This record gives sequence, C-alpha cells and structure tokens, in this order.
Amino acid sequence: MSNTATFTDNRNGKTYEFPIIDGELGPSVVDISNFYTQTGMFTLDKGYTSTAMCKSAITYINGEKGELRHRGYDIAWLAENKVFLDVVHLLLHKKLPSQSELDAFRKKLKTKSFINERMLGLFNAFPDKAHPMAVLQACVATLSAYYSRDMNYDDPHEYMELAERLVAKMPTLAAFYYRHAMGYPLIYPDLDRGFTENFLYMMRSFPHSHVDIRSIEVKALDTVLMLHADHEQNASTTTVRTVASTHSHPYSCISAGIGALWGHAHGGANESVVRQLEAIGSVENVDKYIKKAKDKDDPFRLMGFGHRVYKNYDPRAKVLKGLRDKLVDELDIDSNLIKIANRIEKIALEDEYFVSRNLYPNVDFNSGLILKALNIPTDMFAVMFVIGRAPGWMAQWMELKEQGNMKIVRPRQLYIGPKIGCEENTSKNDIEYSGKQ
Ligand code: CMC
Repeated sequence: MSNTATFTDNRNGKTYEFPIIDGELGPSVVDISNFYTQTGMFTLDKGYTSTAMCKSAITYINGEKGELRHRGYDIAWLAENKVFLDVVHLLLHKKLPSQSELDAFRKKLKTKSFINERMLGLFNAFPDKAHPMAVLQACVATLSAYYSRDMNYDDPHEYMELAERLVAKMPTLAAFYYRHAMGYPLIYPDLDRGFTENFLYMMRSFPHSHVDIRSIEVKALDTVLMLHADHEQNASTTTVRTVASTHSHPYSCISAGIGALWGHAHGGANESVVRQLEAIGSVENVDKYIKKAKDKDDPFRLMGFGHRVYKNYDPRAKVLKGLRDKLVDELDIDSNLIKIANRIEKIALEDEYFVSRNLYPNVDFNSGLILKALNIPTDMFAVMFVIGRAPGWMAQWMELKEQGNMKIVRPRQLYIGPKIGCEENTSKNDIEYSGKQ
C-alpha cells in the first residue's frame, strides 16, 4: 500500500501502519504521532537526526546539494541582489518588499530601535568581564518585562509589532553592551542611517570626532547578517519553538534561543574559529592541528568545519569565502590568519578523514575573519549571529502561532536507571538493554 509505512515488531510479529506525508521539497516524513498509543513503545532519536519537529514554510535546506532557500528564494541569489532588511521582510511578512515597502519598513524599524531608559541600569549589574551573550540573553529576557502587559499575543497585528520591535532593538542592545563595557558614552540610534550602518555608527561613534564608516564595511556586515537570518530547525530555533509551545512570552523564547546559540557547537563557533586560527599561529603548524583533529583520543575539533545537515559545502560559507576574498584588498583582514585558513581548507577538502565524513567549511569558517576585519570584538561574534538570527526566530515563533493547535513539546525517554522496589520483568515489552548509552 502506498502512503503508509509498516512497522513490524519482530518479537511478536505484530504490524502497524503509519501515514507517510510528502512535503513540497525534501524527504517525506512518517507521521509517528500515534506510535506510542499503537505500539506501547517510544522511538529513540538522539540529537533528533531523523526527526522533523514541525511543518514549516519558511526555510528549505538540501544538505546533500548544499542548498538553502528562504520562502523559495535561493540564498546565493538573495546575497547577490538583496539587503538584510529585504530578507527580514521576507521572513516576517512572507514576501520580498518593493522599494517603497522596503523604505517604509526601514523607517518603521528605526522608530522601534530605542530602548526604555530604565533598562540602562541593567548594564551596571554585570561584572566587567561578563560575556556579551550572557548580557544579551538577560537584556532580551528583561525586554519581556517591558512588553508583557495589555498585549494580546493572539492578535497577528500585535505579534508582528513584537517581532519587528525585537529585530529593531537587538543592534541597540548589542552596541549599548559594548559602549558600557568599554566605559564609552552611549550613542543612540541615528534615524538618518540604514539598519546595518546605524549599528556600526553606534559601535564606533564619539561625540568629539567624525565617525568613519565605509560602504564596503556596511555591505560586508549586511551580508553576514543576511546569511544568518534563518536556518530551519537548528538547536536554537528548536529551543525557541520548544519554549513557545509552553505559551511563554515571545521574548522569553528568544532569550532561551540566545542561550542555545551561545555554545561553540552552534553560534559560538565563529568566535572559536578565530581563536583557533590565532592559536595555530602559522601555516607551518597546520599539519599538527589537522592530526589532532583526526585523533579519536583527542577532543580537539576543527572549528568552522562540519554540519549536522550539510554534507556538502555550506552555501553560506561559499558566499562568505567570495566576500572575504573580495574584501582582502579593501579591509584590514589578517593575511596570516587567511593563509592558515586557506591551508586548513585545502587539506580538509582532500584528506580522507574529512572527505569520508563530509566535513566541509561551514558559515562560521569565514564570518569571524570578516567580523574581525570590521573591528567587531571577538567575544561579540556570536552577538552578531543573534542580530542576524532574530528575524528567523520571530518568523518561526509567528508560524507556530499561526498554525494554531499548539502542542507542548514533551519528549519521552528510555529509562536506564535502577529498578529498586519494582517487580522484576514488569517492563511492558520486556525489553533487554545493556544500560549503556
Ligand atoms: N573536526 C574534526 N572532526 C569532526 C568535526 C570537526 N569539526 N566535526 C565532526 N567531526 C567528526 C566527528 O568526530 C565524527 O567522527 P566519527 O564518525 O569518527 O565519530 C563525525 O565527524 C561526525 O560528527 P558528529 O559530531 O557526530 O556530527 P554532528 O552532526 O553531531 O555535529 C557539528 C555537527 C557542527 C556540531 C560538528 O561538526 C562540530 O562540532 N563542528 C565544529 C563546530 C562548528 O563549526 N560549529 C558550527 C556549526 S555551523 C553554525 C550553525 O549553524 O550553528
């Protein structure tokens, strides 16, 4: 029979049928929502490598081909032809804006980019060496306190306002963190500047001198932000959706997402890449580090390599490599680090260890080098990822709301602990297990 998958329990010969659902693109899914009620068993999928957690119309990835699309548009085409705010509009409003719509959208976000002055006191509460991701996570959670009353989260107009407000305020929060950490005077958003230029303005400006922002720098940062805008059900987006499923405040969901993104296996990788390239120090040392990366007994990993979904060159990494090479003559990109990065990439693309495991450069491999050339402090690289990803998270949050019938995310487990006080052989299906993961 077509459109169903049959599961047979070989212990008793019983068979069960589950519907197969086709998407528009990509692998079909077997709907196992009723698996437990039918079979009395759970499925086990560590890291959710075979699990689709939702239906979504926002982003499509073909990991084998190295393809990424937002609402149907190819990322390489978007990077070539559009700006970050076009993609923000595409994610939130489901369509690319016309020029006049883009202008109006830019203007609207600018008016939402200020933060309540009472929130400034928050920055004093952090120790001098606080990591910016810790500060940003706290700031976004605090924002939920400012927008928690008199809001109707079921009204699409109100939640769109919430989404746009978050996207608009994120660069201000990031720049305020930096100014405060450095002891510099706060610089408020400049309504005459574009979204990305305004961020560089808030980072670099001083009341006593002219701020120098080159258009090539704006273009580079804008592209980096765009390439991070959404990436389907990655760890942080899944976190946002999971918290949203409990009907928590949307900014509390985003704050949780920032926590998930911070880790070096996810958004913290761009910071780790640059720190690793600096630790390698010279092209002569690359072979030694490649050997470490391949050694099963050494926890060392090549940062900026590998991806759960891409088993081909990450299309975002391709765009960034082109951008990085274009910027070399115009920006102060550390040529020693580029030489090391190029050597690592060349070896990895030919070496059996990396080839057989499909370990290609990912988005973080070059984004850190570009951010460093823009004088963004290294510990703020993941913050730049957050500014880029905020619209994607909010689009995913809104999609969940729109789809309705929100089911709390509540997975189960295979219990492997002691059975003190339990009768022997009470397990429903008498499953044998080794007790090891
Ligand atoms: N260096 C060396 N070996 C690696 C690496 C690496 N960067 N990545 C994976 N492997 C090996 C791993 O040891 C394993 O080998 P074996 O099969 O012999 O045990 C195999 O490749 C599969 O690795 P995995 O950890 O099971 O794969 P995963 O899909 O669970 O993890 C990953 C994906 C991105 C966490 C991982 O590749 C990694 O840690 N990369 C470095 C960190 C990094 O660059 N993260 C940024 C990801 S892209 C930004 C984003 O979207 O968040």
